Amino acid sequence: LKQAAEEQIDAASSPEQLKEIRVKYLGKKGEITSILRGMKDLSPEERPVIGSLANQVRGQLEEWIQEKEESLQEALLEARLQEESIDVTLPGRPEPLGTVHPLNGVIEQIEDIFIGMGFEVAEGPEVETDYYNFEALNLPKDHPARDMQDSFYITPELLLRTQTSPVQVRSMESKEGKVPVKIICPGKVYRRDDDDATHTHQFTQVEGLVVDRGIAMSELHGTLLTFAEQIFGEKLKSRLRPSYFPFTEPSVEMDISCVQCGGSGCRMCKQTGWIEILGAGMVHPRVLERGGYDSERYTGFAFGMGPERIAMMKYGIDDIRHFYTNDLRFLRQFQSI
Ligand code: PHE
Repeated sequence: LKQAAEEQIDAASSPEQLKEIRVKYLGKKGEITSILRGMKDLSPEERPVIGSLANQVRGQLEEWIQEKEESLQEALLEARLQEESIDVTLPGRPEPLGTVHPLNGVIEQIEDIFIGMGFEVAEGPEVETDYYNFEALNLPKDHPARDMQDSFYITPELLLRTQTSPVQVRSMESKEGKVPVKIICPGKVYRRDDDDATHTHQFTQVEGLVVDRGIAMSELHGTLLTFAEQIFGEKLKSRLRPSYFPFTEPSVEMDISCVQCGGSGCRMCKQTGWIEILGAGMVHPRVLERGGYDSERYTGFAFGMGPERIAMMKYGIDDIRHFYTNDLRFLRQFQSI
């Protein structure tokens, strides 16, 4: 029995097998245990002899099992260490690095230019109330200009903002009548347009607002000229054309000489040599009052532009949908902006 057990213990190759062997010999119904149990049937002379022999064998088996157990565990640990070892001298795997999206790159350039002129960056919600998106901007419910901006309504009072102009009133309110107000607000806007080369149902705008004492059209003009020259990196011809927005009076649109052809006429400027880059104007007195500013004491200007348009002109991109379709061949061309 002792010899058979020894052989089995020796041959055991896992802790589980060893456990089975322990049960077989030393368990409650094990072979040694039953010998010890059977002692009562032996004669008084045999008892001490068999008893001490059985106990000795039991002790020996326990010792062997214990030893085997230790060596098995050690081998297991060794195997795991082997498996998990790391060769620290191997060269690292390069992490593929993404690049800034061209649209975000241009928005950052616009922000930097205005921050350089002392503006602060403000933000507003994309889900906006009818009040801030239209009403406070001097577009009452029946105003025809609401049609210019076909909207995504969520409820009769809530919509996806169609422009960043609601941030004008929000910014004035948060300033609680203090001057100067000098903010730009970049962000997403939404309109119910069918997508084509020049329209997307979601696009971006950067709004600007300045309110202070004695702000005149000349401040607006100077600010816009500085901006246009810095973003396109060159001296440009520009012109302001009269226009209409309900929240500015007077209102203008700014054209610059076409950046792609220098004004000689190309597809981008539809052969006119001019390209419109933004809408602007002097803040309507009613909008100032809504924002908590006395329109007799303060004046202001506002402007709004589309970064997609600016980026398209700057980099000669002919389809606005490129910004939103995530074609890596397009995106990778702007690694350095
Ligand atoms: N919000 C106007 C638009 O989306 C642009 C604009 C902003 C015009 C501020 C004037 C002043 O068309």
